[in-house]
Amino acid sequence: MTSLTKKTLSGKVAIITGGARGIGEATARLFADHGARTIIVADIQDELGQQVATSIATPDCICTYVHCDVSDEDQVKSLVESTVQNHGKLDIMFSNAGILSKSDQTILDLDFAQFDRLMAINVRGMVTCVKEAARVMVEGCVRGSIICTGSMAASNGTKKWIDYCVSKHAVLGLVRSASKQLGVHGIRVNCVSPAGVATPMTCDALDKGVVEVEEFFGAKRILKGVALRARHVADAVLFLASDGAELITGQDLLVDGGFQA
Ligand SMILES: NC(=O)c1ccc[n+]([C@@H]2O[C@H](COP(=O)([O-])OP(=O)(O)OC[C@H]3O[C@@H](n4cnc5c(N)ncnc54)[C@H](O)[C@@H]3O)[C@@H](O)[C@H]2O)c1
Repeated sequence: MTSLTKKTLSGKVAIITGGARGIGEATARLFADHGARTIIVADIQDELGQQVATSIATPDCICTYVHCDVSDEDQVKSLVESTVQNHGKLDIMFSNAGILSKSDQTILDLDFAQFDRLMAINVRGMVTCVKEAARVMVEGCVRGSIICTGSMAASNGTKKWIDYCVSKHAVLGLVRSASKQLGVHGIRVNCVSPAGVATPMTCDALDKGVVEVEEFFGAKRILKGVALRARHVADAVLFLASDGAELITGQDLLVDGGFQA
């Protein structure tokens, strides 16, 4: 197996949606540490995204922020097309932007306005990012890597957050089908599925601080002694993006500390 080095992503051009914080930000930083030539941080939090991109950029790594609401097809098209125009190609799409509902709904109290909003981002947005990335990879004859952020919630039913659980099951279907349809072009499509990580998303949803959220999720894991952090998920994304995973496609890589076991 090709080992991961500081040059693993040498020359690669990557887009990371939801890159302004949490798992996306950690992945952007890791990609830069592993030699990516260009990283586009795409998000809707302009000030934060700009700060993150500026803090990552070095003479060897172009890192820029682009405003992109993934639920808007035109914005995703423009993100992908401007990346190819400005940087020559797209090698890696990390389609990661996603939200968790504020309220912990079950099927009995499901609110469809909230459901539609979440689906527009977690499902339609994810599909649009895969579609547009694949389109320019095919046009540019790039044997690219597309990685979507799924969730442990795609392998199980959940007691609440039904809209989120449904959306992440859809992501798995997207990844499995797209991998079959794009293999002929040499494009790999995989999923990384974290268990609970204390990011702003989960801290907001649970209305708890980082330490409390880590304790909450840690109690459910088999592997003890290490908190699951965004960088653990980023490590898995880096692997799937790298040539070390060149024969891996259509997979759901769980980063869950043994929760699923
Ligand atoms: N944190 C966890 O426990 C966990 C577990 C499983 C899966 N995930 C998934 O990981 C991904 C990242 O989540 P996170 O925990 O880092 O959350 P986060 O809230 O810290 O980061 C998500 C980022 O996505 C951005 N975003 C939200 N809506 C967007 C939109 N419409 N267009 C573009 N960007 C948008 C946000 O501004 C934010 O910067 C999500 O898909 C989430 O479902 C997270």
